[in-house]
Amino acid sequence: MNDRIKVLLAMTIAAGLSGCSKQVTYADVEPTLQEKCAECHTGDHEGVVASGFTVESYESLMKGTKLGPVVVTGSAESSTLYRMVAGKTDPSIHMPHGKDPLSAEQIEVIKVWIDQGAVK
Ligand code: HEC
Repeated sequence: MNDRIKVLLAMTIAAGLSGCSKQVTYADVEPTLQEKCAECHTGDHEGVVASGFTVESYESLMKGTKLGPVVVTGSAESSTLYRMVAGKTDPSIHMPHGKDPLSAEQIEVIKVWIDQGAVK
């Protein structure tokens, strides 16, 4: 897929999701977290050991790292979770660590979910 199509697709998804027709919930975000994060951020895997962050449940996700929350309810742009997966942080802490980034759609769903209040 070329970049222009990706951008158009992301915009279409964003419009669809934020157009108040659909409330995005944790259930929409969870499959992405399982696919892209769980291998390091569950149990005693490396991401958990290093940061305390687990994607085991809504509660653990909202609790964040040992330093505190990574989701600022209502503001994806202020949320470490979104900034890391969207490539808006220092490249050394982009997530997933050393793996393929999330698709534009997956990033957009996380963004809209946080902006809509990160509900369960
Ligand atoms: C290959 C293993 C791996 C994968 C996959 C992975 N992480 Fe991590 N993650 C780590 C490690 C290791 C750390 C510890 C900090 C560091 O080295 O950057 C970390 C740290 C974090 C932190 C804490 C950052 C901080 O500054 O305290 C968050 C939040 C995080 N990851 C989110 C995610 C999310 C969301 C995903 C999925 C999109 C993900 N990670 C996928 C290994 C991984």
